[in-house]
Amino acid sequence: MSPTTPKAKAKSRKDIVAKHKEFLLPSLGSHYADPLPFVSGKGVHLTDADGKEYLDFFGGIVTVSVGHCDEEITERIVDQLRTLQHTSTLFPIEAQADLAEKLAAIAPGDLKRSFFTNSGSEADEKAIQMAQAHTGRRQVVALRHCYSGGTAGAMSLTAHGTWRINEPNAFPVTHAANAYCYRCPFGKEPTSCNLECAKDIETAIQTTTDGQIAAFIAEPIQGVGGFITPPPEYFKEAAAIARKYGGLFIADEVQSGFGRTGTKWFGIEQWGVVPDIMTGAKGIANGLPMGWMITTDAVSQALNGKVYLNTFGGNPISATAALATVEAMEKRDLPGNAARVGAHFRNRLEELRDKYPLIGDVRGKGLMQALELVKDRKTKEPAKPELQKVIESAREQGLVIGKGGLMGNVIRMTPPMTVSVSDVDEAIGKLDKALAVGSGA
Ligand SMILES: Cc1ncc(COP(=O)(O)O)c(C=O)c1O
Repeated sequence: MSPTTPKAKAKSRKDIVAKHKEFLLPSLGSHYADPLPFVSGKGVHLTDADGKEYLDFFGGIVTVSVGHCDEEITERIVDQLRTLQHTSTLFPIEAQADLAEKLAAIAPGDLKRSFFTNSGSEADEKAIQMAQAHTGRRQVVALRHCYSGGTAGAMSLTAHGTWRINEPNAFPVTHAANAYCYRCPFGKEPTSCNLECAKDIETAIQTTTDGQIAAFIAEPIQGVGGFITPPPEYFKEAAAIARKYGGLFIADEVQSGFGRTGTKWFGIEQWGVVPDIMTGAKGIANGLPMGWMITTDAVSQALNGKVYLNTFGGNPISATAALATVEAMEKRDLPGNAARVGAHFRNRLEELRDKYPLIGDVRGKGLMQALELVKDRKTKEPAKPELQKVIESAREQGLVIGKGGLMGNVIRMTPPMTVSVSDVDEAIGKLDKALAVGSGA
């Protein structure tokens, strides 16, 4: 029996998909033309309802940090399920307090006080509310191509037409150019650009606000945007500009946090900057729902006196899962593994770039790696249909990879951080064949 074979026989793929189509919102997108329900997972592998096994190089959208159904984490969750499942945030929760202590220990600088939610969207909204209360101002600066979530406030921050519905405007937000070096918004080269993109934050503040802001929020590596990775000096400059105009710097670590970028716990540490507020979700609890916001003692006082409630946020089950996840990552040095295996992965992806003109750019850090596909390396015309062919062909060969980017032409790969060099080599073999299909070879 395969390690990922489900204990009880699941429904057939056809039945699951038919019921999904009938009872869920039709707007729920499918990764593949023919929807694919998975029924079990173990480590870096998933099994579908037909019993076919896949290498999972997307991790449930950058979420399964320690591998599917990890024994140690599962034991702790089951133990908590048998002990206490819910009380609400009106009562101190032991696992939540332990988790908050642990997160204060691994967070950079003097970030210390946490608030837990059920999703990254809520965490980002809470971060903005905190910054607004602290500064007494409302205006926020975000970056083009960013994704902050699906609630009204988070959607207001988001700068991706695809993900903005009904013109959200819960916060006054102005969007500055992002550090998209492969398609520099200013037509410059990274070696001589003088960080024009960071300077655009200042121009945005001067031209579209009254000159004072509550916050500047940014993902260290833009996730949904297609793993857009700013140059090394970018965040020092960007955070300094935000602070010059009275704003707090919020790092959205929903995708880049928790060891994903290699060696460090949080993506922003790769740029040597300490934010005033940091948010997280996804990889924090290995797949259980949890969002998180952390700030300094000083900033946290801003909303003191106003009663905060989040019925499920940081409930005993999710808090136990998150603590077990962080402790497992620490014990097994998964941030270190993300750096080591990520470096090998990157080299292998660069070899593929040398082989396939379809690959215009390879970018990312650690185990957060992307390929931007183009029809022509000179014109950089986005290769969206080709990307879908690559994804579908990878599926046929038993490899799950993600997609993203404003133009839908970026392959995103974020395997569980337990992944080995031989798993990467196996994935590269499958990806090689899929790229040949996408290239029309
Ligand atoms: C960077 C970032 N922030 C926030 C969110 C919103 O998180 P959630 O989907 O848990 O609400 C996402 C989701 O993809 C994200 O990538």
